[in-house]
Amino acid sequence: MTAIELLKNDHREALSMIEQLESTGEGATGSSRIEVFNQLKGALTLHTKLEEQFFYPALENFDETRDLIKESYKEHREVDELLTKMSGHGEGWEDQLSELKGDIEHHVDEEENEMFPQAEELLGQRRLQEIGRQMEEMKRGQSATA
Ligand SMILES: [Fe+2]
Ligand SMILES: [Fe+2]
Repeated sequence: MTAIELLKNDHREALSMIEQLESTGEGATGSSRIEVFNQLKGALTLHTKLEEQFFYPALENFDETRDLIKESYKEHREVDELLTKMSGHGEGWEDQLSELKGDIEHHVDEEENEMFPQAEELLGQRRLQEIGRQMEEMKRGQSATA
């Protein structure tokens, strides 16, 4: 799997967890919603870590992607902050979830439509395979210790 395939899979997974959270609004038991929220939080934290450890550093020194990467780090911190404030329930939960969804959709759109095509050109398939392998290894390590 290339780095881009792996990251896109993560994106689809995160977006589907958000959809799941949206549909478990009123009437759903709070505990199952909190469970899904905690899963989402864990998945996003790992995804951000993978990108910042393996993917962004490979791109941040190219003129073509420098600004995009800088912007992306900033957006990661915004999502981190929002996730820290969220608990999966309580007052304002619905608003927080829709803010999170908007932030993530915007970020994913930029990565998939601007950053990833640039990465394919700048890094090439061989390097993307190699980064993908490193990411898979780290993912395996994380799930073994979880
Ligand atoms: Fe991403
Ligand atoms: Fe990202």
